[in-house]
Amino acid sequence: MKAGSTGRRGGTARFLYGVGTAALLSLLLSATQVPGRAKSTAQHEGSIESEPFGTTPDGTQVNRYTLTNTSGMRVRILTYGGIIQSIEVPDRHGQFANVALGFDNLTDYIERNSPYFGCITGRYANRIARGRFTLDGTEYVLATNDGPNHLHGGEQGFNARVWEATEVRTQEGVGVRLSYVSPDGEEGYPGRLAVTVTYLLTERNTIEIDYRATTDAPTVVNLTNHTYFNLAGEGSGSIYDHRLMLNARRFTPVDENLIPTGELASVADTPLDFTRPTPIGKRIRESHPQLVIARGYDHNWVLHREQPGLTLAARVEEPTSGRVLTVHTTEPGIQFYSGNFLDGTLVGASGRIYRQGDGFALETQHYPDSPNQPNFPSTVLRPGEVYRSATVFGFSTTD
Ligand code: BGC
Repeated sequence: MKAGSTGRRGGTARFLYGVGTAALLSLLLSATQVPGRAKSTAQHEGSIESEPFGTTPDGTQVNRYTLTNTSGMRVRILTYGGIIQSIEVPDRHGQFANVALGFDNLTDYIERNSPYFGCITGRYANRIARGRFTLDGTEYVLATNDGPNHLHGGEQGFNARVWEATEVRTQEGVGVRLSYVSPDGEEGYPGRLAVTVTYLLTERNTIEIDYRATTDAPTVVNLTNHTYFNLAGEGSGSIYDHRLMLNARRFTPVDENLIPTGELASVADTPLDFTRPTPIGKRIRESHPQLVIARGYDHNWVLHREQPGLTLAARVEEPTSGRVLTVHTTEPGIQFYSGNFLDGTLVGASGRIYRQGDGFALETQHYPDSPNQPNFPSTVLRPGEVYRSATVFGFSTTD
């Protein structure tokens, strides 16, 4: 079955379940046990397949990894950009669909992926104002690839690099570990940065993403994954009926260039209040200045956190299919982007065009422009330190 296709996989759907915040942490730490099934003793039950997926213009081969767990959930990952190409999960009736926007060929990812579908974004996910920051008294100048700003690591960010891949098998599931060494000075950033990103598809129908990096000189780092979701199925229309909850009472308002003003503002009495599940489209056309600037939602929310570690960041429910996405993260923020700049010019994996609002991204991250914002949590990484970040995308269904 090709990416983007749909279909039923026999007898597998009801192994899905949802987990609460506290439960998730303990599950992550405990041995795999899927409710309704005997305890999983074999640690290699899921499968990992890899195949060539074309070559870049300089002749570098790109591979595609297909991870499948025993309940039939399937995730496809490219060594180009560390892109999550597809995520196939069942609806409440066991019908599988790909819920991640993307392309069915490498050329489109290389030439047309201005939305950053599915990729690892770095060194600095999101924006750095005027492409400049000062660290330890030295000013660094980065590419400005988004009007006056630096966005998602520059002209050739981590999204456009071919990563080394190794297979991963643990008691939890199957995965792929991607590595990339970013040379000193790449895209203007100081320090040689060695990065690994591990994707693990678990038997609990979660995708766990573990990010690590080390440097040989002080630098800044902010890594995320830029998957666009449509829980009704990629290419099926807008995501405005999806009900979103964000575990955040504050957000970082932006100026006309989508750079944070530095304020942490309350979401109360604004269309940015998703503390209760609310359809994404319900208030998206309100003339709130922040929605006008961004043409919808394209903001960083300040996550409510009671303890360090993985914390619930977001929950999204699609009413027709019953599919539910939960996001847990160790990061302090999350960018909720409602696909405002999708404009009908791209054809997705299923052969349908993507229009405004046809997908949403939930990018776990440090706040935008942190290198220039002394009041935001620091994104500085120094030699001897290890950058670590984890995010878990969980899939389940409601009845
Ligand atoms: C940004 C958007 C941008 C999109 C694609 C998102 O992370 O917040 O402003 O258009 O990525 O680059």
